Amino acid sequence: MYTLLEAQNLIEKHIQTLSIPDTPPELYEPVRYVLSLGGKRIRPALVILSCDLFAGAVESALIPAVAIEVFHNFTLVHDDIMDRSEIRRGQPTVHMKYNENVGILSGDVMSILASRLINQSPGVVLNTVHDVFTKTAMEVCEGQQMDMNFEDQLTVSGDEYMRMIELKTAVLIAASLKIGAILGGASQTDADNLYEFGKNLGVAFQLQDDLLDTYGDQKVMGKQAGTDIVDNKKTFLMIRALENASPDQKKELVNWLTNKHFEREEKVAAVTTIFNDLGIKELTEVRIREFYDKALENLSHLNKPEERKTELYNFASYLMNRNK
Ligand code: IPE
Ligand code: IPE
Ligand code: MG
Ligand code: MG
Ligand code: MG
Repeated sequence: MYTLLEAQNLIEKHIQTLSIPDTPPELYEPVRYVLSLGGKRIRPALVILSCDLFAGAVESALIPAVAIEVFHNFTLVHDDIMDRSEIRRGQPTVHMKYNENVGILSGDVMSILASRLINQSPGVVLNTVHDVFTKTAMEVCEGQQMDMNFEDQLTVSGDEYMRMIELKTAVLIAASLKIGAILGGASQTDADNLYEFGKNLGVAFQLQDDLLDTYGDQKVMGKQAGTDIVDNKKTFLMIRALENASPDQKKELVNWLTNKHFEREEKVAAVTTIFNDLGIKELTEVRIREFYDKALENLSHLNKPEERKTELYNFASYLMNRNK
């Protein structure tokens, strides 16, 4: 069976052999650029591991796996425009290196390339795989729009936040597992079970991403820390802080969330201090653990010998201990 590392290496090699046209270079060079910057490749690795779990032919999962990674990279290129992020994977984001229009169009073409690659799935499962993929792709956009709407909303409930991260992040992780399972010949029940595992893991993953945005090391993450605070994102951290703040703390938070003119460093430091005073990091860690445990429970219910699940257990623990 494939280990996580082997799956990641397989994907990496395959991505480098993708045939991407040359002209116009303004369109395709950014595609090559963003795909060459690495990244953890977790989604395509999950397609491979999940297919392998059902003893499916991993070669047949390779192109669909790459399709999902290309789609993910498209969402990152557009996300970085929307979030005004300047650094990704330790390098300038596409819209900073080139310009915004280039970011929009090269993102578009990646999304189309992803569809073309998904369409190369084996004929017997093509319809099912395509359906899961397109449904998921729409959901990611829905989640991204909610995330943007929340920037301008002072109050966002815990439930609204959960729905937003399920859509923008968790469903793609869930779909990667499900598509891998379908390619591997899994039963509907097993595929759905893995989808639930992926959804809970994906929620934990986004909570962790929120946490790292404030508390991570930007040299390790390859992204600029504090961006969520600058953007008034309603992350788990911010929502909890608004709920738990004293009247004075709440007033200060609301000021930072509504002032149009501020010094970046000052805002990040002041909001982080309030998070620290309220113990938000620890609260977030508890919540991450809850979803991680739910995911492990889903996996334990999957009707397969435990030893076949080892790599997915390893994967979950790798995700939970990540610092990038
Ligand atoms: C970043 O995804 C976007 C989120 C959904 C949080 P990753 O953390 O998987 O990014 P890369 O692909 O490893 O760079
Ligand atoms: C991004 O969430 C989710 C998608 C790209 C769909 P974030 O905006 O938190 O991701 P990062 O932190 O920029 O990677
Ligand atoms: Mg975003
Ligand atoms: Mg972002
Ligand atoms: Mg983030």
